Amino acid sequence: MRTCCINPSILSADFVNLEAELARVSAADAVHVDVMDNHFVPNLTIGLPVVERIQQVSSRPLDAHLMISEVDRWAPSFAEAGLESVTFHLEASAAPVKLARELRARGSKAGMALRPATPVESCLDMLPELDLLLLMTVEPGFGGQEFLDIMLPKIRKARAAVDGAGVDVAIQVDGGINGETIGRAAEAGANIFVAGSAVYGAEDPNTAVEQLREAAQRAHNGPDME
Ligand code: DX5
Ligand code: ZN
Repeated sequence: MRTCCINPSILSADFVNLEAELARVSAADAVHVDVMDNHFVPNLTIGLPVVERIQQVSSRPLDAHLMISEVDRWAPSFAEAGLESVTFHLEASAAPVKLARELRARGSKAGMALRPATPVESCLDMLPELDLLLLMTVEPGFGGQEFLDIMLPKIRKARAAVDGAGVDVAIQVDGGINGETIGRAAEAGANIFVAGSAVYGAEDPNTAVEQLREAAQRAHNGPDME
C-alpha cells in the first residue's frame, strides 16, 4: 500500500498572517511553498528571505516549488535553508542533473517539475537523480484553477516508469486537487497531493487535510479494500 501525503499550498493562505496560517495545517505532511518570479510564470510571490523565515517557524517540513527562471542560480540556497524538498522546473534549468545533485548534496530532496505541455519522457532518464517528480495538473502560476483530467495518462506513465525502474521517486500532483479530483489522481499513481484552495478555502484546513488524505488512500487501496 502506497502512503499518501497531503501538502497544503500557502499560496491560498493569508500572506499577512503566515505564522497563524501555518498553524492551521499542523496535520499536513509538508507545507508547499510556491516561489514565483513573474518571469517563468505571470505571477509574483515570495523569495528566499521569506521562505527562510517560514522554515524557522513552521512545525511541518517545507516543500518548495520554484517557478522561477534563474533556478540553477537560486535553488541551492533554498536547500541550504534546510527545506525538506526543493523542486525546480525542468523547463527552466540549463543543467538539471547538476542541479539535482547540488540539492541532494545540501541535504534536501531533489524535485523536478513538469508543466502540462512537457512530455513525461523528457525526465525519465533522470529518475535516479530525483526524489520527487512534480506533474503540474494546471498551468503553473495561480491557485484555484480547474484540474486538467488530460494529465491523468501522464501520471500513469510516470507511475509505470518509476515502478519499472525500481527507484524511490514520489509522484506529486499540483493544481486543482480537491475532494472530487484527488481520487482520480491517486488512482493514476500520484502519492503526494498539493492542495491550496481546497485546504485554505475550507472552514477547518486541518479537517480538509485529513479528508483529502482519506480520499487518496481509499483510491489507492481500490474497491476491494473498502
Ligand atoms: C500553482 C501552484 C499551486 C497552487 C495550487 O501554480 O503551483 O501550488 O497553490 O492551488 P490549487 O490547489 O488551488 O489549485
Ligand atoms: Zn505549487
